[in-house]
Amino acid sequence: MGRYEDAFRRSLADPAGFWAEAAAAVDWYQDPQVILDDSNPPFYKWFAGGTLNTCYNALDRHVDGGRGEQHALIYDSPVTGTAKTFTYRQLRDETARFAAVLKGLDIQKGDRVVIYMPMIPEAVVAMLACARLGAIHSVVFGGFAAHELAVRIDDATPKLIVSASCGIEGKRIIEYKPILDKAIDEAVHKPAATVIVQRPQATAAMTARDLDWHELMAAATGLAPCVAVDATDPLYILYTSGTTGKPKGVVRDNGGHAAALTWSMRNVYDTGAGEVFWAASDIGWVVGHSYIVYAPLLAGCTTILYEGKPVGTPDAGAFWRVISEHNVKSLFTAPTGFRAIRKEDPQGTLTAGYDLSRFRYLFLAGERLDPDTYRWAADLLKVPVIDHWWQTETGWAIAADPMGLDPKPTKPGSPTFPMPGYDLRILDEDGNEAKPGDTGHIAIRLPLPPSCLPTLWHDDEGFIRSYLARYPGYYLTGDGGYRDADGYLYVMGRTDDVINVAGHRLSTGEMEEVLASHPAVAECAVFGVADELKGEVPRGLVVLKAGVTADPEALAAELAAMIRERIGPIAALRTIDVVPGLPKTRSGKILRKTMRGIANGKDEPVPSTIDDPAVLAGLRPILLRRNDPG
Ligand code: COA
Ligand code: AMP
Repeated sequence: MGRYEDAFRRSLADPAGFWAEAAAAVDWYQDPQVILDDSNPPFYKWFAGGTLNTCYNALDRHVDGGRGEQHALIYDSPVTGTAKTFTYRQLRDETARFAAVLKGLDIQKGDRVVIYMPMIPEAVVAMLACARLGAIHSVVFGGFAAHELAVRIDDATPKLIVSASCGIEGKRIIEYKPILDKAIDEAVHKPAATVIVQRPQATAAMTARDLDWHELMAAATGLAPCVAVDATDPLYILYTSGTTGKPKGVVRDNGGHAAALTWSMRNVYDTGAGEVFWAASDIGWVVGHSYIVYAPLLAGCTTILYEGKPVGTPDAGAFWRVISEHNVKSLFTAPTGFRAIRKEDPQGTLTAGYDLSRFRYLFLAGERLDPDTYRWAADLLKVPVIDHWWQTETGWAIAADPMGLDPKPTKPGSPTFPMPGYDLRILDEDGNEAKPGDTGHIAIRLPLPPSCLPTLWHDDEGFIRSYLARYPGYYLTGDGGYRDADGYLYVMGRTDDVINVAGHRLSTGEMEEVLASHPAVAECAVFGVADELKGEVPRGLVVLKAGVTADPEALAAELAAMIRERIGPIAALRTIDVVPGLPKTRSGKILRKTMRGIANGKDEPVPSTIDDPAVLAGLRPILLRRNDPG
């Protein structure tokens, strides 16, 4: 039996034994008393009775253990033309100083702190400082608009918000402060204070509520010690798109997270202490939380915080520069980044002149890795290219090819096998297991392994409704797919109203809510269509209210602007058609899947339950025309 097979088998046969072993790599103040507390299903607790501090494990432990002078964080920012390194000691001290600032602002264990920041070191310091105090951070991605931020503020009810004067998107300066102010105006809950990092690219006008990061840090006296928290206490809340305008507050605990992420660095990523790990993502997404901040630091690696893009900062050779300049062993990004590079430099000529000899692995996730992109990257880089599949809810890979165990032969289009603890099943509509090759709902038998969400923030019912109710005893991933005869998993796409645009998870249901709020719109549908660069992009159809006339182009532009204003620029809903009607079933359900299939050029079967086939027939040319690659 291979090492992977052995680990997987043990994790299901004896979950407590398997994860107790993994947890031994974490420093505990008090060892866990019960490894898996299954006394209250479907709510499971990992490492109950144990106490620890995640920031201690990520920073202090390495300083105390002799890694104080090793680089912990390299901030590489082509958009500002700066780079800065922090040793473990420096990052620990900076974090402990900011934790002292937070304490001075009355932040205590269990308090929430919202972080709305660009990719600057202060963002990492703020996250770790919260962890140090046992405060719960909730990072909101910078590409979200004020309304999205307001919704999260109202759900997390933070005592404090940490932000910055601006972010930099390529050559554009995005002022964050006006967005923050607008969000706080809109939110019912008001934070007691806001801490703002003033960046030289745009200085924010401060109000009575705003405190200046640099002034607070200069005035700080002393360094705050780590606070012991329960393994089951929340480390953070990260909101993710569901099927409605209300995002889901995924809760991450401290103990399970530390144990699973530490295990993953060694076994999935084969990257350890002293080695350089780079996740080219954003701290606002789960990839950023897990693999820019926590996992590489827990493992004693050097992590890279890259404030730039795969292309345009300054060119499609940016990734190769960072890899060679900082001796990156493992890069983790989304396939869309590689598609962007390939589009600009199809031959990969820009790799010339960069020393990539220490580069060992390319890990891709966030959306389906299409076989074309896989082959292009593998041929160019001549290193293993590993597709792995996971979600905000899990915090680490559900399926992967574990490089630190025994790597498997790659099958392009497949993220290989489930990781330990994930008892993965493909279920049909009735909950029966599908045969190899048959597509179904991908579900995981409970309990989920450590690091996976124990619940949603203050919403146990929502947790059950969203994930557990469909198939009792299972967690529903929301993804559809199949396993082949060799057991390889294929994840083919979401089965709900969630789409992945350039690796960003967005809700079509939420976009529909925005479109439907326009006074001219009677009804609408938004669905994802394939896109060469971004994998998927949203597409909208609207039906006008009776008696209303509107110029279709002007209305489409107005609706696109509403989406940008309400959800944010990343929503990128650009194609909106005004149509006479939407195809529905006889019971009134809009046939989104059918329209999506037609728009994607598939030979999509028309359901027998369709109410008026003429409506769909009339739409066909519109759906097909607008999906031309040109
Ligand atoms: N703050 C403010 N605005 C942001 C933002 C942020 N943090 N991130 C993105 N945006 C804006 C962009 O500027 C763009 O605005 P525009 O419509 O005014 O041009 C819009 O949101 C769409 O952004 P994006 O989807 O990133 O598209 P893009 O065309 O700017 O870039 C890629 C395309 C492929 C280069 C980019 O998506 C990328 O670098 N992907 C890498 C993978 C990745 O980070 N995935 C995340 C999860 S792992
Ligand atoms: P997020 O929660 O933002 O990380 O998005 C999770 C979703 O992204 C998953 O439910 C999938 O739909 C998709 N996804 C992530 N990784 C992969 C992958 N390797 N293959 C296919 N889909 C993926």
